[in-house]
Amino acid sequence: MLNADRTDPAVLRELIATELLAARERTGLLTGAVDDAELIAQHSPLMSPLVWDLAHIGNQEELWLLRNVGGRDPMHPEIDPLYDAFEHPRSERPRLPLLPPDEARAYAYEVRGRVLDLLAASPLEGAPLLDAGFAFGMIAQHEQQHDETMLITHQLRQGPAVLDAPPPPAADGAALRPEVLVPAGPFTMGTDTEPWSLDNERPAHQVHVPAFWLDTAPVSNAAYQAFIADGGYREPRWWTPAGWEHRTAADLTAPLFWTSEGGQWLRRRFGHVEPVPPNEPVLHVSWYEADAYARWAGRRLPTEAEWEKAARHDPATGRSRRFPWGDEPPGPEHANLGQRHLRPAPVGAYPQGESPYGARQLIGDVWEWTASDFTAYPGFRAWPYREYSEVFFGPEYKVLRGGSFAVAPVACRGTFRNWDYPIRRQIFSGFRTARDAEGAGEA
Ligand code: AVJ
Ligand code: FE
Repeated sequence: MLNADRTDPAVLRELIATELLAARERTGLLTGAVDDAELIAQHSPLMSPLVWDLAHIGNQEELWLLRNVGGRDPMHPEIDPLYDAFEHPRSERPRLPLLPPDEARAYAYEVRGRVLDLLAASPLEGAPLLDAGFAFGMIAQHEQQHDETMLITHQLRQGPAVLDAPPPPAADGAALRPEVLVPAGPFTMGTDTEPWSLDNERPAHQVHVPAFWLDTAPVSNAAYQAFIADGGYREPRWWTPAGWEHRTAADLTAPLFWTSEGGQWLRRRFGHVEPVPPNEPVLHVSWYEADAYARWAGRRLPTEAEWEKAARHDPATGRSRRFPWGDEPPGPEHANLGQRHLRPAPVGAYPQGESPYGARQLIGDVWEWTASDFTAYPGFRAWPYREYSEVFFGPEYKVLRGGSFAVAPVACRGTFRNWDYPIRRQIFSGFRTARDAEGAGEA
């Protein structure tokens, strides 16, 4: 679908409508799975009440599409400050006079109806926000990003399970080599051509990357348990000073949602308590934990440029591609995306999603922490608003790449950049490790 002829406005309109609908279906499912009391409750101080996300989704859609693109007057200007993410931190949102669930739902669906009318009449060109349907694509991605946020809230919520999904595909039977070599050489990082790329993915620029070895797949629960069993959480030498300080203050002893019972590790996953599956990528670890594990293993986290080269560079053509498997949009054979499965697939799944260098599961399953701070690419221009990326640039945030099982295809690609504080682990975060390669030639 994403490779449809986007230069034909009728095709582009259809594609936009499909993406908006897919996002709203997911929003409906996540907000419809609990009762009103749970929609307005604060399940964790790290998260907004689900009813805030719902109205914020509608409010951003109204702001960007009905007002900025369509030139319409605000529908309810008095609610704008309530749903401005910069006015109130998440922890305070439950105490705001938020729209109650029925009104939040009615507002979001009223906005959507008007947006579909606007879309039907839009030339989808002639203004920077409209070109290639960018503002519509940005809003579809925004809703899907909040659908991931809401899934995190569901994971933090206590009580019996309300969400269900079939298991992901098994790993393919063939033995995986532990790591793949990415030879030294330049590659094109970022993009000028991806039509719905967000500002921080732009512009495309050449980066020289020295040769390195990268884990074929994300670090597994079994491997991470070996780190725990070896006393990794008790050994300051594996941790950065800030990491050790945090590990001590927060009393970290295992990934979030893990408990140990009679010598066995259990985890809570969307209301189910189950043994930790040894062959799944480790999930719900902070950057500090990922970094400590890598040092314990005699390795390090990959830089963001290393990650993107491994995921996008095609040594046969010298081009950077959209995805590890090529330019086709993600299908269920390529990657675990879209909340189709509510867990990562086992390490070694998705052979059809492999990159030319042989790395697996770069897209989907778990967000992968990188060594890199979230910074602007050379030539960066904030677009269309500084608060999407620019205000977050700097050393406080680390970059995550690749997307998790909770990320929708529309908000996932080889250039996509996510970021968070190094202490965060309620997010669907895992990692893989790397090491320098000595004497490997150019390619
Ligand atoms: C890109 C995931 C860090 O959730 O804060 C949602 C996405 N931006 N609404 C976030 C976003 C505005 C953003 N992250
Ligand atoms: Fe938002």
